[in-house]
Amino acid sequence: FTEPKIAPSILSADFMNMARDVAEIEEGGAAFVHVDVMDGHFVPNLTLGVPFVAGLKKITKLPLDVHLMISNPLEQLPWYLEHTPDIVTVHAEALNADAGQFDLAIDMIHDAGCKAAIAMKPDYDVELIKPYIAKLDMVLPMSVFPGFSGQSYIQGTEAKVARIVEMAREAGVSPLIEVDGGLKANDPTRAVCAAGCDVLVAGSGVFGASDRAAAIAEMKAVAAE
Ligand code: DX5
Ligand code: ZN
Repeated sequence: FTEPKIAPSILSADFMNMARDVAEIEEGGAAFVHVDVMDGHFVPNLTLGVPFVAGLKKITKLPLDVHLMISNPLEQLPWYLEHTPDIVTVHAEALNADAGQFDLAIDMIHDAGCKAAIAMKPDYDVELIKPYIAKLDMVLPMSVFPGFSGQSYIQGTEAKVARIVEMAREAGVSPLIEVDGGLKANDPTRAVCAAGCDVLVAGSGVFGASDRAAAIAEMKAVAAE
C-alpha cells in the first residue's frame, strides 16, 4: 500500500485569504495544490485564470496541479504554461482526436517542462484514452460533472480507475491516477484507493473543515483501511 497524495482544491478555500489557506494545507500534509480553472463555457461556472495561477506559484512550494476546464485548450495552454505549473490537465471532451489534438496538447505541455494529464467527465468512454496512455503522466476520471465543489461522488468511478490501471499495465506504464469530486474521509475514497487511485482531490472535504490538517490526515487514514 502506498499512501495516496491529497490534492486540496482551492475552489473551496477562502479567496480573500488564499495565502493563509494554502499555507495550512502545505503544513497539513497536502501533496499538490489543485487549481480549478473554469471558463464559464466548457463548464457553467467561472473561477480563476492565468494571473491567479502565477500568484499561487509565488506563495507555495507545493506543486500546482492545474485542472483546465476550458474550451479551446490549445489556444490558452501557452498562457498557463508560461508559469510552469507542475501538472497541467486538459479535458478529453475539449480536444478533437481526429485533428490530432490529444498529441498536440500533451506535447505542448511536455515541451514546457510540465507533466501532462487528461481528464474525463463521468460519461466519457475511458477506452478512448488508450492511444495516449503511454505519453500521460496522469489520468483523471472525474467522479462528478465538473463545475462545482460539494457534489456527491458518482458510483462506478472506481471501476474506471481499475480499468485505467489495467490499460496502463498493458502499455507497460504507470501514470498517476487522480480522482476528483465528492471525496473526503468517506466510502468513495476507500473505493477509489482500493482500485488504484494515487491522487485524491478534495475541495469541500478539506477546506470545508475547520481543521484542514486533520481532514487531510483522516482521508489518508481512510484510504489505508
Ligand atoms: C469540480 C472540480 C473539483 C471540485 C472538487 O468541478 O474540478 O476539483 O472543486 O470539490 P469537492 O471535493 O467538494 O467535490
Ligand atoms: Zn478539479
